[in-house]
Amino acid sequence: MTSAHQGLSGLLDTEAIRKDFPLLDRVVHDGKKIVYLDSAATSQKPRQVLDALNEYYEQHNANVHRGVYLVAEEATALYEGARDKVAAFINAPSRDEVIFTKNASESLNLVANMLGWADEPYRVDHETEIAITEMEHHSNIVPWQLLAQRTGAKLKWFGLTDDGRLDLSNIEEVITEKTKIVSFTLVSNLLGTINPVETIIRRAQEVGALVCIDASQAAPHMVLDVQALQADFVAFTGHKMCGPTGIGVLWGRQELLEDLPPFLGGGEMIETVSMHSSTYAPAPHKFEAGTPPIAQAVGLGAAVDYLSAIGMENIARHEHAITEYAVRRLQEVPDLRIIGPTTAEDRGAAISFTLGDIHPHDVGQVLDEEGIAVRVGHHCARPVCLRYGIPATTRASFYLYSTPAEVDALVAGLEHVRNFFG
Ligand code: ALA
Repeated sequence: MTSAHQGLSGLLDTEAIRKDFPLLDRVVHDGKKIVYLDSAATSQKPRQVLDALNEYYEQHNANVHRGVYLVAEEATALYEGARDKVAAFINAPSRDEVIFTKNASESLNLVANMLGWADEPYRVDHETEIAITEMEHHSNIVPWQLLAQRTGAKLKWFGLTDDGRLDLSNIEEVITEKTKIVSFTLVSNLLGTINPVETIIRRAQEVGALVCIDASQAAPHMVLDVQALQADFVAFTGHKMCGPTGIGVLWGRQELLEDLPPFLGGGEMIETVSMHSSTYAPAPHKFEAGTPPIAQAVGLGAAVDYLSAIGMENIARHEHAITEYAVRRLQEVPDLRIIGPTTAEDRGAAISFTLGDIHPHDVGQVLDEEGIAVRVGHHCARPVCLRYGIPATTRASFYLYSTPAEVDALVAGLEHVRNFFG
């Protein structure tokens, strides 16, 4: 730590934590060690998760809920044990409220399709409305567009303020008596903004609308308590929170999961099947047709153990300190414009910016030559770029293993980019 970092408080022992993440030792161009600043796209994986995956495949691999032999019972216990771990991690009242999917996109599509096929009082049809926001990831826009096209429902959205927050000034026009579902992100993947959940939920409850929260950029970084949130559905993905790819979660309130219809049909989601009709297993199995992502769920369980042992409050405190430092240092770079909040108070650890008129792809390429990995583009949130009149941004995102020295490396890399492009 240099003297510039002395004032930073709440940092984790990253020297110890980084030893758990083999990829952070990767040497990339010209012998430079990677500076990984793309955790909002996917996090790196600790050895504990890699070991759990290996052990599962080497010792316990079998299909779940089917076999009567020892290894199959072990596989089932590990898969269902992962559900228990996730339920505890998000403070779910019941393990049966945790549905495993393949990613957050699938979780959000599942909600949209449940409502599209539902009976009253949940049914979305041509007389009803859906409310989202302009800062959503495409995975929380397109499923609702598809549902609106299929049912004739009207899709409405909250716009954005110039400083990257939701404009809720017309909340009573966006969420009305006709609104069936309000779906929005807790933390923006592009802007980093943390949204005022309570205000939106209060209005949704006033009109009797359901609330779905995309917590993909929240679950990895802060305490996620679904009971405190008071939403009806919460979606997130495993690969951004130290877990493997191919595993996502949809949490839903039990009575809703009991009432709502399944979306995918297949093995293990049924109670009985005849050639004329079928009845369905109770949730969560009703929503998990076919062989599920077993190893991936086991890996997610190990990731939850890993994060819980460090403590989500501690992780949040660390990221807050890093974000505060990064926002301050980045604003020292001439011509750099942060797209999103410029204080660390109500933002997460993903920071998007433009650098003069240098195209973000060029920024990303020069940074890559310095060993610095960032994401460039529209970040699957193209409406945000359109709103701010920019084609794309460069995004640096931080996690529990990120260090102030990596922020310094980014700032030095950006100076290099500016020199390179004159
Ligand atoms: N949703 C991921 C991101 O924001 C992929 O980069």
